[in-house]
Amino acid sequence: MLCMAGWSPRAPARGPRLVGMTTESTTQSMTTQGPPAQRKSFGSDNHAGVHPAVLQAIVDANPGDAVAYGADARTERTTAGLREVFGADDTFLVLNGSGANVLGLSLLLRRHEGVICAESAHINTDECGSAERLLGTKLLAVPSPDGKITPEVIAEQLSGRGDDHRSQPGVVAVTQSTELGTCYTLAELRKIADFCRASDLRVFLDGARLANAAASLDCSLAELAECADVLSFGGTKNGAMGAEALIVMRSGLAEDVPYLRKQQTQLTSKMRFMAAQFDALLQDDLWRANAAHANAMARRLAEGVTAVGGVDIVYPVQANAVFARLAPRQITALQEEWFFHVWDERDSVVRWMTAFDTTEADVDAFLSSVRITASA
Ligand SMILES: Cc1ncc(COP(=O)(O)O)c(C=O)c1O
Repeated sequence: MLCMAGWSPRAPARGPRLVGMTTESTTQSMTTQGPPAQRKSFGSDNHAGVHPAVLQAIVDANPGDAVAYGADARTERTTAGLREVFGADDTFLVLNGSGANVLGLSLLLRRHEGVICAESAHINTDECGSAERLLGTKLLAVPSPDGKITPEVIAEQLSGRGDDHRSQPGVVAVTQSTELGTCYTLAELRKIADFCRASDLRVFLDGARLANAAASLDCSLAELAECADVLSFGGTKNGAMGAEALIVMRSGLAEDVPYLRKQQTQLTSKMRFMAAQFDALLQDDLWRANAAHANAMARRLAEGVTAVGGVDIVYPVQANAVFARLAPRQITALQEEWFFHVWDERDSVVRWMTAFDTTEADVDAFLSSVRITASA
């Protein structure tokens, strides 16, 4: 192994980006201990288990053999179902959200083009630079105080167009719901889509939590997808074990996907089990029930903490995340009992996330700890 003076390898910390949190002790306390036993984690919707209906669907798909790599009847049915739900040109199953993002962007980018995205976008902060490394693109990150970008900030990035010294903006990436727990309205998405179409920009939508946005806005998945040329639809944060879909809206793009998906190592052999997970989520709109419940638990939590002195909600709670500012000593006290992430240590902001299986009792117990630690 290459060793340099003064440098030693460190094991990666397995948690989301922690703004300003660099000390070994704080990183360790949040990333290696995990949720205290018996208590619901408010750290991430990824901490939740698998929805029983999803597990059952996997079990039901198990008997017998099926052709591999998505050529089985179940995968064909499921992807056709997704096509119908989204009004899409074509749909494909992939393994994870980061893979869906890279694959989706790869369909939309020319080799000299960059991607305009929010500073807080997952592709910019939490994917180890995969779009840049694997696609050779440049991310043109713009400030977005609430996680959303607007035609105005997109327009500011276009001044270097035609200058061969500058990365040429080709794609706008939006996230719905955003990394800060906010949702674009349908009108906001349409404005972005109209601007991009008029400006020769393609739109990619990171829909790792698209279900939460659809539930929050009480709209269909197809309405959300209309703004995008390509998007992802997350199953994992919605109760699946590990299944995401790539939804291709614009015609003429889908024929490359099978090859690019394989090149990018997102083609799984036993795909019937991923299809089964989406079958379960699509059945009777389980995806919407799961997301609506997670959102409702976040609202309950936000409403509960508003009454507590010294705790401020910092972004509108429109999906399943609550960002709150509270005193550092209260954060420490709460973390002795509960698992959640500090989002920004400098600003003393934490992120509390709910999931399809967070109960009212979980929220109320957490709220009780917030009240006790506030007055201690
Ligand atoms: C908005 C968003 N996009 C993409 C991802 C990536 O998903 P995965 O961890 O499955 O690669 C995440 C994961 O947290 C996310 O929050």
